[in-house]
Amino acid sequence: MPPFQLTRTLPEDATDAALRADVLDGLTSAPKSLPPKWFYDARGSELFEEITVLPEYYPTRAEREILVARSGEIAAATAARTLVELGSGSSDKTRHLLDALPDLHSYIPVDVSESALTAAAEALLAERPGLTVHALIADFTRSIVLPQAPGPRLVAFLGGTVGNLLPAERAVFLKAVRGLLEPGDSLLLGTDLVKDEDVLVAAYDDAAGVTAEFNKNVLSVIDRELGADFDASDFDHVARWDREHEWIEMRLRARTALTVKIPELDLVVQFEKGEEMRTEVSAKFRQEGVRSELAAAGLDMRQWWTDPAGRFALSLSSPPAVR
Ligand code: SAH
Ligand code: AVI
Repeated sequence: MPPFQLTRTLPEDATDAALRADVLDGLTSAPKSLPPKWFYDARGSELFEEITVLPEYYPTRAEREILVARSGEIAAATAARTLVELGSGSSDKTRHLLDALPDLHSYIPVDVSESALTAAAEALLAERPGLTVHALIADFTRSIVLPQAPGPRLVAFLGGTVGNLLPAERAVFLKAVRGLLEPGDSLLLGTDLVKDEDVLVAAYDDAAGVTAEFNKNVLSVIDRELGADFDASDFDHVARWDREHEWIEMRLRARTALTVKIPELDLVVQFEKGEEMRTEVSAKFRQEGVRSELAAAGLDMRQWWTDPAGRFALSLSSPPAVR
């Protein structure tokens, strides 16, 4: 097997078709919304990496602290020979897991961002010539077919990205992940935790404006891919804590009344002055909520670790033991 393979699990034009469908649906709904997966073209992936080192954005540092402290325990509990990572991005924190797993054979990063996957694989293979990397360009909200690789498998979903799915989407997604797991396999799930509103809002509305640029990047993607004439400077970045749902909501707010043309969709969209379009939710969790969402998907939570400051959690779960 070659040390690096890249598989596009979607047909070449599926991204385009899916983008068209999402934009048409989202911009003709009231209120308007767009799914967050369209942030991540090459520029969006770069901006996300900038976010991870911002002083206000604690999740990446907090999750890394847990991985540094617990990767040995995770390796012992899972004995994984294959590590599958959903929404792997730069795979930077994943190094702690890769280093801890003594019998690892294959690493299977799964992401919609081709640029993130190839950069991550190149860096990892330069450091670890013995590793087999089989990257999948795929949408983890659709059915994923994993390449053959030896078990046990550890499926990691880090960064709190599960919180970018709405509750109903999460339920469907977690059941699909459960379907990927055989007895002896495990899921390692990163979840950001409910905390003080000021800390949360600052993490999504940083002083340097990087998150604002990341948020507006979705407009550049639509301009480039669908020939639209969105002008990012017509919109303000909004990050709000929704206390009822316990999620941060990112929106783009029109500064003036405006009209946007999207020729590829034969669509003209009107925004009123002050109108807000949702671009992302980032749910924050509590231990019991995570346990019950996992249980509803048929997974038993076996371990729960937080960073010392209690900001972020990693949980390890697995299919129930067969009796
Ligand atoms: N796991 C990394 C990156 C998190 S950013 C970390 O913890 O730092 C979220 C990642 O998920 C991005 O790389 C983005 O491209 C990817 N992503 C978002 N939605 C996706 C989807 N529906 N399917 C596959 N990948 C997705
Ligand atoms: C990828 N995901 C977990 C990030 C988050 O915190 O919800 C995306 C992000 N949005 C704004 N800043 C970072």
